[in-house]
Amino acid sequence: MHFSNVANVFVLPALAQAAALTRVSNYGGTASSKTEMWVYKPDNVKANPALVVVIHSCQSTAQQYFANSKIPWHQGSDAGGYITVWPTSPNSGTCWDVSSSKSLKRDGGGDSTAIANMIKYAIPQYNINATRVYVTGGSSGAMMGNVLAATYPDLIKAVSVYSGVAAGCFVGQGVAQWNNACSGGTSTNTQAGWAKIAEDMYPGYNGTRPKMQIWHGSADSTIAPQNYQEELKQWTGVFGVTMTASESKFNTPEASYTTSNYGPNVQGIYGQGVGHSVPSHLKVSEAWFSLP
Ligand SMILES: *[C@@H]1O[C@H](CO)[C@@H](O)[C@H](O)[C@H]1NC(C)=O
Ligand SMILES: *[C@@H]1O[C@H](CO)[C@@H](O)[C@H](O)[C@H]1NC(C)=O
Repeated sequence: MHFSNVANVFVLPALAQAAALTRVSNYGGTASSKTEMWVYKPDNVKANPALVVVIHSCQSTAQQYFANSKIPWHQGSDAGGYITVWPTSPNSGTCWDVSSSKSLKRDGGGDSTAIANMIKYAIPQYNINATRVYVTGGSSGAMMGNVLAATYPDLIKAVSVYSGVAAGCFVGQGVAQWNNACSGGTSTNTQAGWAKIAEDMYPGYNGTRPKMQIWHGSADSTIAPQNYQEELKQWTGVFGVTMTASESKFNTPEASYTTSNYGPNVQGIYGQGVGHSVPSHLKVSEAWFSLP
């Protein structure tokens, strides 16, 4: 008797159909950046699903980030029936270009434009509800999340970034350059100064902007914690609210974290004693995105 073999006949086709992270070779647009697009469509996609773009850190890729247990957006996608897009950086060391003028302006053709092109491709292709497009990322991916919020505010409803820097803080002469002053926390500015840097990436834009949720750890020795303050200054400046929190909740969402609201559109979550990068808090980021 070969019952085990018989069972395999039925099991194998089911496995072959299971959702998997898949490369989209031609997502269109005219960016010179060769950023790769990967997409994950869970088995049970909701009608008019939401889209979350999940942006990896340096020395990672779409596939590695997708498989990283500290970045559980793949599981969130399965449970919530929404689509996730995972870009892979084309740059040496796979840091994102958050330094060159190509990426730090709308339609400059750099990595930010390439990721915007993925969003534009995904909306009709996967029948995405265009008012429910969200961006998250860690470290270099968080820096790119801030840059996307400044360059493509019209495409994105909300952003949740872990351990990044303000848009424009990593500015440099070339593509994907490291910026020691910014990473060290000495590139500081006023609210108005940071707001202008963000607004100048898409001059004249007067539409709605994504809500910003900013995470950082006090023990971050890669991207100095001062960058948490600089990011909050940037987005409170853009939204025209003060840097005095309208509400602060201690030990929220867990022990040693403080959640501070600056009106409805800016939220900071600071982890005391937490290093680089703050792990994804899926449920808290999903709630910021009104997911699922
Ligand atoms: C798209 O999302 C918005 C906001 O959640 C919702 O009000 C609207 O009904 C959705 N549209 C469709 C077609 O599902
Ligand atoms: C906002 O920008 C659009 C397009 O640039 C322009 O047509 C419109 O008049 C602007 N609205 C306001 C209130 O400035």
